[in-house]
Amino acid sequence: MSKPRILVMTAAGKTGMPVALQLLSEGFPVTAFVRREDQRSERLKAKGADIVTGSITDINDMKQAMVGVERAYFCTPLAEGNLKAAAVFAAVAAEHKLESVVVMSQWLANPNHPSVHTREVWLADRLISLLPVTAITFINVGFFADNDLQPLMFAAQFGMLMLPYGNGLNAAPSNEDIAAVVAEILARPDGHAGKTYRPTGPELLSPYDMAAMLTRVLGHRVRYINTPIWIFSKVMHGLGFSDYNIAQFEQYLLDYQNNAFALNSPTDVVRHITGREPEDFETIARRYVELMPQAKRSLKTQLQLMVMLPIWILSRGPKTLPYLAKTEFSSEEHVMLSARSAEWNKAHELL
Ligand SMILES: NC(=O)c1ccc[n+]([C@@H]2O[C@H](COP(=O)([O-])OP(=O)(O)OC[C@H]3O[C@@H](n4cnc5c(N)ncnc54)[C@H](OP(=O)(O)O)[C@@H]3O)[C@@H](O)[C@H]2O)c1
Repeated sequence: MSKPRILVMTAAGKTGMPVALQLLSEGFPVTAFVRREDQRSERLKAKGADIVTGSITDINDMKQAMVGVERAYFCTPLAEGNLKAAAVFAAVAAEHKLESVVVMSQWLANPNHPSVHTREVWLADRLISLLPVTAITFINVGFFADNDLQPLMFAAQFGMLMLPYGNGLNAAPSNEDIAAVVAEILARPDGHAGKTYRPTGPELLSPYDMAAMLTRVLGHRVRYINTPIWIFSKVMHGLGFSDYNIAQFEQYLLDYQNNAFALNSPTDVVRHITGREPEDFETIARRYVELMPQAKRSLKTQLQLMVMLPIWILSRGPKTLPYLAKTEFSSEEHVMLSARSAEWNKAHELL
């Protein structure tokens, strides 16, 4: 019997790419939905994927992507249009009577969160769960290890892990472990319908623990510098992150500082679903060091960063206010971080 065709959205992304590659390696026909053709789509095509280029908020592109599809990974970027993408996806998925869908949701998912993206994720989850004949599984991931390693070049060049985590704890999962959970459920969906999973790394770490691990990985001392969020945001801005993206991150960082990601963490989801242990932070960090040229200490990179850092910090910061829209869904008295929400804490305890 032929295997069902699986649609992978954001197939060039951090989780989409490994999901698509794992499914292809198991012989599933995969439709990889990407925004543009480039070396990432070429890689997927070379492994046997059918490539559909387009926008996930365009109904015509989504219809093209869904031809012949029976299962799907619903994943959207951290960008505007999340709820529209969910509506477009749900409309086309209903027409196709998809058998099963795995949804990339969020640990913090909460209808009253100050992050507009998180509020939209919560609504998108509800919308997709209304699909009448489709088995849905939600993946509520916390803060990816990938975020911890974005400032790796500063740790490598100056021995400073500059993150605004306060004393917050997190058991951060790797992109690969999250993807392995998603791919396993798409490949063998039996028993996962209606479930919500929270994949994590193997242990809760403080930012001081992460700095100690990076000290071992990089072979020189790395200190954690508890960086004010406004400085972190200016550096993100300088590095080219969008104002929308930074606006959401600022709110996630406040939840991080308030230990929202430590609640009921770590979980055994990665072991339970994939049958192997989740990667630890040190293993993940070694991979990033191998792949990132700026993680090799060099005078040239140090001088470049020493010039750029003050420019970023002294220049105009990101305009985040328009992307918070605090009263968009609910009146201001209801808006609160997940860490402070009794409703979110209760829902989180039950899972
Ligand atoms: N990072 C975290 O800590 C975290 C935690 C919990 C949940 N999440 C959720 O994870 C999701 C992101 O997953 P990810 O990190 O695997 O994705 P990702 O690496 O951010 O990839 C997003 C992909 O979407 C593509 N894209 C952007 N706009 C598009 C459009 N209009 N149409 C089609 N494709 C488009 C991008 O294409 P290009 O590369 O070509 O631009 C990119 O390849 C978000 O919904 C976020 O809420 C993230």
